[in-house]
Amino acid sequence: MRVGIIGYGSMGKMLLWKFSQAAGLDKENLFVSNRTPEKLKEAEEIATVCGNREAASLSDIVFVCVRPSDLKNVLEEISDALNPDTLLVSLNGSVSFQSIGRITGNKAAKVIPSLTAEIGRSQTLVCFNEKAGAADKENLLGLLKSIGEVIELPENEMGMGSELVSCMPGFIASIFDVICKSAQSHTSIPEDQIVSMVLSTMSATADLMIQNGMSFNDVVNRVATKGGITEEGTKVVYNDFPATADLLFANTLEKRRKTAEAAGKAFSGIHIYFDSDGVLADMKGYMDAHDIPYNPDGVCDKSVDEIMWGKIREIDHFYDKLDPLPGSVELFKELSSKYDCAVLTAVPKEKWGITTSGEDKINWCRRLLGDDVKVHIVYRAQKADFVMSKKDVLIDDLEINIKEWEAGGGTGILFTGAENFDYSKLVELM
Ligand SMILES: NC(=O)c1ccc[n+]([C@@H]2O[C@H](COP(=O)([O-])OP(=O)(O)OC[C@H]3O[C@@H](n4cnc5c(N)ncnc54)[C@H](OP(=O)(O)O)[C@@H]3O)[C@@H](O)[C@H]2O)c1
Repeated sequence: MRVGIIGYGSMGKMLLWKFSQAAGLDKENLFVSNRTPEKLKEAEEIATVCGNREAASLSDIVFVCVRPSDLKNVLEEISDALNPDTLLVSLNGSVSFQSIGRITGNKAAKVIPSLTAEIGRSQTLVCFNEKAGAADKENLLGLLKSIGEVIELPENEMGMGSELVSCMPGFIASIFDVICKSAQSHTSIPEDQIVSMVLSTMSATADLMIQNGMSFNDVVNRVATKGGITEEGTKVVYNDFPATADLLFANTLEKRRKTAEAAGKAFSGIHIYFDSDGVLADMKGYMDAHDIPYNPDGVCDKSVDEIMWGKIREIDHFYDKLDPLPGSVELFKELSSKYDCAVLTAVPKEKWGITTSGEDKINWCRRLLGDDVKVHIVYRAQKADFVMSKKDVLIDDLEINIKEWEAGGGTGILFTGAENFDYSKLVELM
């Protein structure tokens, strides 16, 4: 079996050396590449140093061990170099098989090793996409056993699984760091001796539980006799620590959700620009309610412009007074959870003297869409300058804007109300 490693950082290096030493793969069957090739000097004795595409094309299993922000570029670079039978392995839990599948149709697996692989005691998590067959599973699991135990999980459980094995060494270390620091303030025993005593006790307690099949409760009951000193301590843990543990998982899982959301957006490559007036904000509703003639810029009768802008000029912070259109804010939030979304809104020409229009629109967007919303303020004719590719989508109620956007190579969706929103063009772009 030929194995490729792309990315020779913390994980790539660990896997390469373990596959060489523990799995016994020789130099002719082990390929490695890295963005900074100088770092591969030390690996020359055990592996064939090459480029990313070569590592991809020569391997039966290729591990892509790069940071999430680099993964999309690496997959795009190697996708047409991969042999159709090659199993592509991503080390990144946040990038879904669906996202990977947008770039390559290969068989794929996700693998999450833990730091304890360094001593051959990883509990490596693995999941496969639907294209991987029994032989792929057998080959990969066999290889991963060289760094410890292997646990196969469904894709949707890889997040919590990672908390329990890959993040857990960090959680355990930080919890016992806190305990040792607290102990220090109550004793003259030196810090390194405290750490050594706690560490040995931790390790021996784990061995005792595993060897004797004991549960956490068994240990507590054996040590914390009723009315004794240990019980005073365990009571504090059971009373006060659950809130901390709940917060720990709530925060890490939320961070994981946001990271996966950001990765999904990056892999879709779609950027959506929402127009404001007539899409998000109900300008027409305000004008009708206040008996002001309405002439959306650039389409209708120019003769009403003087009256319209004159009236608007008299209204303090006009654009921050508009109501949202029904369902539009919800639509913006829904699409923002899957795609990169921004507001692209035009302000009136300078000659109309609506001096606060830009700041009013920004304030409106922040108030209704969230503090971190991106808002681009332009003149109407500049909107199409934002098109870079077909995956740039404009949602606008003005046909002229849609035409100019599409003439620039982008995708336009004419907005006639959130209830009628046409998702089909987004689906086609995926
Ligand atoms: N660290 C962990 O404990 C752990 C555990 C489980 C999973 N993971 C996952 O494993 C992945 C790698 O993490 P890591 O900690 O090993 O990261 P890392 O130490 O930062 O290493 C990343 C490596 O990727 C290389 N690289 C970047 N872009 C590249 C490109 N275009 N072509 C070839 N090589 C490229 C970098 O090269 P340079 O030398 O030029 O920087 C670097 O050597 C991440 O997805 C991470 O989430 C990590």
